Amino acid sequence: MKKLPIFSALDLETKDQALSLVQSTQNYVQAYKIGPRLFLSYGKKLIADIKQLAPSAQIFLDFKFYDIPSSTVEAVRSAFQAGADFVTVHAGVGQETLNLLYQLECELSQERFFKILFVTVLSSASPSSETEKVVFNLADSVYKTGLKGLVCSPWEAKALRDKYPDVFLVTPGIRCEGDSKGDQKRVMTPLKALQAGSSALVMGRSLITHPNLEDFLRKLSQLLEK
Ligand code: C5P
Repeated sequence: MKKLPIFSALDLETKDQALSLVQSTQNYVQAYKIGPRLFLSYGKKLIADIKQLAPSAQIFLDFKFYDIPSSTVEAVRSAFQAGADFVTVHAGVGQETLNLLYQLECELSQERFFKILFVTVLSSASPSSETEKVVFNLADSVYKTGLKGLVCSPWEAKALRDKYPDVFLVTPGIRCEGDSKGDQKRVMTPLKALQAGSSALVMGRSLITHPNLEDFLRKLSQLLEK
C-alpha cells in the first residue's frame, strides 16, 4: 500500500500508547514524530521498538535545537546516531551554525537518508502582517546555505513552494473540517495543505484522538489520492 505523506506526532503519555498507534497506522503513515515528552522517558529504545514494529517507517525527532554552533552540530549528529531520519533545528540558529549543518547533512547523507528540518514560525503563533516576511527571512537564510528542509504552517506553504520549488516543506497545523484547533492558529485541512505545496503533513491530535483511526486513514487515503 502506498503510504501517505503524513508524519504522525506521537504526542502521547506512554510507550504502550505510542506503539499501539504505530501498530494501527503503519500501513498509512510515512513517519513518526517523537518529541521530548516520550524521548525523555523512553530514550533510544523507543526508536528501536518502533522500527521493529514498522521497519519501513521513518523517524522524526522533533527537539527544535537552538544552541551555539558546536552544541547544535553535535546534538544533530546524536539524533542521527540515535536513528533519526529527520531532526528539527530552529531556522534562526545563525549563519555559522547553518554552514556547519550543511556540511554535516552532506556527510551523514552519504551513510543513509537524513534531513534537517528548519523550523520557521510556529503554526501556533497568531498570524500578523509580519508573519510571512519573518518566515521568508528565515527560509532564505536556510536555503541560500544549501539546506532544503523547512517547517512552516500551511498558510505559508504556497508562497514558499512558488519561490523554492525544490524545498522539502513540512507543515504542522493540520486540521480536518470541524476539528478543534486547540492551540494551533494557522491551520489547514490535509488536502488543502498538500495542494498548497506541503511535502509532508504533521498530524497530531486530529489523527491520534480519532475514535476510528483505520477508517479515518482509509478515507483520507482515498481523498488524497484522487
Ligand atoms: O496536535 P497537533 O496536530 O496540533 O500537533 C502538532 C505537532 O507538531 C506537535 O507535536 C507540535 O510539537 C509539532 N509542531 C508544531 N509546529 C511546528 C513544529 C512542530 O505544531 N512549527
